[in-house]
Amino acid sequence: MSERKVALITGASEGLGVEFARVFAARGHDLALVARRQDKLEALADEIAGRGRPRPLVIALDLAPPEAPQRLREALAAAGASVEYLVNNAGYGLNGAFADLPAEDQTAMVDLNCRALTALTRLFLPDLERHRGGLLNVASIAAFAPGPGMAVYYASKAYVLSLTEALAEELRPAGVRVSALCPGPVLTGFQSRAGMGGSFQTPPGVASARETVEAGYAGLMAGRRVVVPGVVNQALAAGMAWIPHGISLPQLAARQAKRRPQGSK
Ligand SMILES: NC(=O)c1ccc[n+]([C@@H]2O[C@H](COP(=O)([O-])OP(=O)(O)OC[C@H]3O[C@@H](n4cnc5c(N)ncnc54)[C@H](OP(=O)(O)O)[C@@H]3O)[C@@H](O)[C@H]2O)c1
Repeated sequence: MSERKVALITGASEGLGVEFARVFAARGHDLALVARRQDKLEALADEIAGRGRPRPLVIALDLAPPEAPQRLREALAAAGASVEYLVNNAGYGLNGAFADLPAEDQTAMVDLNCRALTALTRLFLPDLERHRGGLLNVASIAAFAPGPGMAVYYASKAYVLSLTEALAEELRPAGVRVSALCPGPVLTGFQSRAGMGGSFQTPPGVASARETVEAGYAGLMAGRRVVVPGVVNQALAAGMAWIPHGISLPQLAARQAKRRPQGSK
């Protein structure tokens, strides 16, 4: 069996991950798609195959448990696939005060957003080096400041950004491209999973899901360490990075509180 070089996209059943799959497929990459909901992944694989591209591998897997990355590697090996590009996109946030959200929900978020991303990156690094491929980690503009009211989520994305920038430097000599994509607010499944209620609205002019993912793809291929898609998000990120925390923290806390459904804390 000849080796199948794939772009491995986590969190490909909804939101940005679906767009990543479409964009990578349109640029000629063979794909492996991972998330928990198999039916959504199969439908996306059918859609891509229907456009005349190779049908992506579909691997339905919960990435949060510690053994998941190894199981994913075994599934890819059984399919004769090796990873040329890794897109660590699966992730979620929880809106609520640290003291009000259940401890196990918050540590499970760290398991997915940080631990699984780190483990997958380390596990597939030899593949990425062998193919001189690329690593695209999805952070957020939330990575640029602490976020009271969504504290663990913001901290998890600061971790992703920091790790990715460091790896961009470490892996440069090996010819592996490494980028952190820092999206701003995009309407996806993210808001309902975060408990933000149905009234969430994106600021005018903010990058769409497709524009966000196109910027991520172009930035990765151009070897850009940090990609913030679109001028509105760039302005938001700059504000978060440079406004003194003494000023920004109460504003961010108020904004997160407003995004909670009425009646919740
Ligand atoms: N939307 C935004 O405003 C925004 C802004 C900045 C950054 N981001 C980041 O962008 C990334 C994608 O988010 P999104 O907006 O596309 O959210 P989304 O629509 O909720 O999609 C999240 C994806 O992650 C998968 N996933 C969740 N838990 C998983 C688990 N335990 N194991 C495997 N897969 C899992 C989901 O699939 P299953 O449920 O089928 O497992 C889904 O495919 C996340 O890292 C998020 O933090 C989003």
